[in-house]
Formats: sequence, C-alpha cells, structure tokens
Amino acid sequence: MPQALSASDPSALLDAVLKTNKKTSNPRLKAVMDAAIRHLHAFALEVDLTPDELHVGLEFLVAVGHATGPTKHEGILLADILGLATLTQLRGARHAVAAGGTEPALVGPFWRANQPLRPSGATISSPGTPGARLTVTGRVTDLKGDSIAGARVETWQASPKGLYENQDPEQEDMNLRGRFETDEQGRFSFISVRPAGYPVPVDGPCGELLAAQGRHTMRPAHLHFIAVAPGYRVLATQFFDTEDPHAYDDVVFGAVGSLLRRFEPDGANGYRLHVELKLERGETRVPHCPLP
Ligand code: BEZ
Ligand code: FE
Repeated sequence: MPQALSASDPSALLDAVLKTNKKTSNPRLKAVMDAAIRHLHAFALEVDLTPDELHVGLEFLVAVGHATGPTKHEGILLADILGLATLTQLRGARHAVAAGGTEPALVGPFWRANQPLRPSGATISSPGTPGARLTVTGRVTDLKGDSIAGARVETWQASPKGLYENQDPEQEDMNLRGRFETDEQGRFSFISVRPAGYPVPVDGPCGELLAAQGRHTMRPAHLHFIAVAPGYRVLATQFFDTEDPHAYDDVVFGAVGSLLRRFEPDGANGYRLHVELKLERGETRVPHCPLP
C-alpha cells in the first residue's frame, strides 16, 4: 500500500509529483516539467510560500494573460523584465558568440510583420520626424567575415521622443521601420534619426511589479535588427547608444557590453553608426513576430 503523504516530509510530496511525470512521452517536455516541478517546490520551500501568497501569484499570472492581446504581449514583457528573454537568447547563441558571432538581444514587443521593403540607402524616417540625422551602414557576414549577399535585414526603432510609430498618433504608419536586402558585399544602409530611450509599457501588471520593486522602467536608446539568410541561424539584436543614461542599466537587461556603440558625429547635426551582423551557420528559424 502506498504511504500517505506527511506534512513534515515535503520530499515525499515532490517524489509523488515527479512520479506523475514519468509517462510524459515527449522527452524534452518531460525534462522541462521535471525541472520545473523540482524548482517550483524548492522555491516554495525557500520562501515558505503561504496559500494566500500562492493565490496572489496566480492572480498575477491571470492578469498577465488578460493584459495580452493582438497588439500587446504582457507575457513577453514579464520574461523581459525578469531577464529570462535575455538569458535564453544569450544561452542559445553562446557557441556562435564564442566563435565571433554578433551577440543577440531580445526581439521585444514592437517588431511588426510586413515592414516595408526599402532600397539600400533609403530614408526610413518620414518627413517631419524630429531629431538629429543618423546614417546607418551595415554588413552581414558569416563567422569568418565573408559577405552574405541577399540577406534580409529588418530594422525598427523609437523616435527621438521615445515612441514607436504604433504608439504615437503623430507618426506615419511604418515610420522608422524598414526591410533591406544585402548587396553582393553583404552591405545595406539607410538614413534615420537618432532614437531616444523609452520606458517599457507600464499600464499592466508588469508595471505594477516594477513599481513594487522600486525599479526604473527605462530602456537605453537603441536600434533593432533582425538578419535572415537561408542556411544561417537568424540573428535578432539591438545596438545601444553608449551615451544614454541607462546604457548600463537596461530594465530588460538587453544592453550587453558588445552591443554598446558610440553614435559618431557626422557633419553639423548628424551621427553615423556602423553595425556588423555576423551569423552562424544553422537552421533558419524566424522568431515569432509580435505585431501585425
Ligand atoms: C524593445 O526593445 O522594443 C522592448 C523590449 C522589451 C520590452 C519593451 C520594449
Ligand atoms: Fe526597442
């Protein structure tokens, strides 16, 4: 006859729960669930979690779900502010980075599907966008530095007011966004404006959590890039303005050292940024695009 569980022996309860996972047929799901069960039990024991506190935590997750819809993913934001998005991305790219590949950074919630294809050298800021001119040049290569021609490069950024076009009724649709194709030397370029840093969305439960933790809400100014080339792992990354006050204190931990750049002065009221996107050979899996 199986033993009844005892309040004084949490390890017997853990063993009983782990046993229920034994028949999970997908081996990866089995491993993930085993670890999740072990860590969740250890966490509850470490903080001596009460039933009331468990309820508060579950209500928080429910609120994260309710705050998620077609144009906003509070779950992504939760993973971002806990550093989980950055952790999984840096782990996933560790071999590529050790071999000289460009460090990744989180995709975030503002990438849009169907960003406009623009010719190399085009301006991505619509007339009337305020701010200092920023000339961006880039090159997509493999880990040896050999050019990758015909790669798709997507970029998006906030305005000098710190707002993405879809958050700001004063900006044109698809302003400060573009898609480019690299030439024979793997090169692309565009003209934009110098972006500003901005707060992550704080109108949902993640905003409440940040406030309860006494944390600031700012991301340092940056430009996003995604490079896609057949036969290579997709690179999603960002380059950060090293002069931004939060360059070393990104609320979502994406601004890793190798991605900080000085936006070099260029002429009377302009700046210049060059980026190298070094891709590792592998399966080409484009990440989920959060916005239509
Ligand atoms: C972004 O870089 O667009 C971003 C990333 C995480 C949370 C909010 C915004
Ligand atoms: Fe961003």
